[in-house]
Amino acid sequence: MKNAAEFHQDMVAYWSGAGGDRWIGESARTEAMLSRVAELLYVRARLHPGLIVLDVGCGLGPTTLELAHRVAPAGRAVGLDVSPEMVGRARQRAAGVANIEFILGDAASHNFPAPFADLLFSRFGVMFFGDPVAAFANLRRALKPNGRMLFACWRRLSENPWMLTPLLAAYEHVPRLPPAEPNEPGPFAFADPDRVGAVLTAAGFAKPSFAAAELTFDVAGGAGMDAAVRQTMSIGATSRALQDQPQSVRDAAAGSIRKALAPYARDTHVELPGAIWLVESRIA
Ligand SMILES: C[S@@+](CC[C@H](N)C(=O)[O-])C[C@H]1O[C@@H](n2cnc3c(N)ncnc32)[C@H](O)[C@@H]1O
Repeated sequence: MKNAAEFHQDMVAYWSGAGGDRWIGESARTEAMLSRVAELLYVRARLHPGLIVLDVGCGLGPTTLELAHRVAPAGRAVGLDVSPEMVGRARQRAAGVANIEFILGDAASHNFPAPFADLLFSRFGVMFFGDPVAAFANLRRALKPNGRMLFACWRRLSENPWMLTPLLAAYEHVPRLPPAEPNEPGPFAFADPDRVGAVLTAAGFAKPSFAAAELTFDVAGGAGMDAAVRQTMSIGATSRALQDQPQSVRDAAAGSIRKALAPYARDTHVELPGAIWLVESRIA
């Protein structure tokens, strides 16, 4: 069984390497697919001009850009991500935006000199910490005493057919992934509210609240079935299951995934159900 430091190294290597590259390759579709989650977060965040927001695990910065726009002119959005490639691209995208900044850094160890944020915000950027208590304790140092935290995380895989359906189709061709180890980081690491509550309170946050949201996710991002197959093979559990497989196996898996997704296709969209938590807390 791996320890927290090993989990952490794995995740940083994943997002700075092959996992990050795949995320970047599919970003146009992913951004379309996840836009509804962003909208739910913006409403809950009660954004207003003047707010200073830290967007944790900001990736290519789509939410950071929107946050900067919504808190302008007096407010500021700061994106934090551990992947040099993502931060580099996010900075390019944000060129010319006055109230935005991107930090290349690790949520678990970045040295925040003083509390500056009114809001810690994240869309699916906080489930990959090897030692989540240490990471949230460190993030807490960035938050002003009366600040808030709000993030979105996935509920269980079984509640997320948008990922489960292609994964089961891929399993017709490749071995099943080993079951997650206890406390293993990954997309579904924060599915259990009891665990999230224990992590956050141990890190110095108040007992969080959980709002459940059920949505549909367009795995095609509006770009049709070919895009849906590519996208589902490039992110999350399905991409891990297919990693390092020869092209012949990937082609066969793509055929099965296409068949499994077909009932959900409408025009250029392929919409499957999914379920998330919107988690809110503040400093205890
Ligand atoms: C699923 S992506 C989400 C990206 C972005 N929030 C979005 O919604 O488009 C997860 C992001 O978390 C980042 N990440 C993972 N571990 C991190 C850490 N320890 N510190 C900072 N960022 C991290 C990854 O590099 C990746 O960009």
